Amino acid sequence: MKDSERAKKLAAETAAQMIPDHSMVGLGTGSTLEYAIKELGRRIRDEDLKISAVTTSFQGQLLANENSIVTLNSMNVPNLNIAIDGADEVDPNGNLIKGLGAALTKEKIVAAMPQRYIIVIDETKKVTQLGEKTPVQVEVVPDALALVECFLKKLGVKPRVRPDQSKAGPVVTDLGNLIVDVEFGIVNNAESLEQQINNIPGVVSNGLFLGIVDEVIVGSVEDGQARVERRTFKKKTFKI
Ligand code: A5P
Repeated sequence: MKDSERAKKLAAETAAQMIPDHSMVGLGTGSTLEYAIKELGRRIRDEDLKISAVTTSFQGQLLANENSIVTLNSMNVPNLNIAIDGADEVDPNGNLIKGLGAALTKEKIVAAMPQRYIIVIDETKKVTQLGEKTPVQVEVVPDALALVECFLKKLGVKPRVRPDQSKAGPVVTDLGNLIVDVEFGIVNNAESLEQQINNIPGVVSNGLFLGIVDEVIVGSVEDGQARVERRTFKKKTFKI
């Protein structure tokens, strides 16, 4: 296994081992979360845990069910004990860019539900400032695509509708919307940008996740040895 995969696996499994019995759990989306879901499934079987979960994508739901995890529809769930997700960028204050997996809206809903929201990454996801590596993703209702593009251009950027890799046309999210990737470069005033984007009619959500994290677990491999670093943050938004 490559070092980057070992790092992701260790971070994800560390988080999955922190889930207490009788929890309602949020499970995010992406290649890092796959390791967490598999480890949680193993614990449910080996330790006979009573756990139920809300997932943030079809990918997560299918994988959770294959791994002995009972899933609930988030429509009926107002809050959770704990949630785990990956991220595309994490800054030193625990602010995130998420959404390269096109699951950002369901991820933001689940991020707002738990008492503890834990992010698991390998160290390539650490950045000094948001926007260093990743565009900001915007999930858009199809009917509003041209309007949203027009307002985004007024912010001085070039929006790009994300093409699907395996069919002709754009990526369609699990919620039936489109993803617009926007290269802002370094994001200097993230709170204000998040508000500006969200205020455009037809925008469902965007990939800036600010002040929402309780803990970041970073996996890395040094001299062949995998290790984790854990950093805690004071949640500023969506406190339950
Ligand atoms: C999904 O929409 C994203 O927010 C993922 O959480 C993020 O892209 C991390 O994915 P990987 O673990 O595959 O890097």
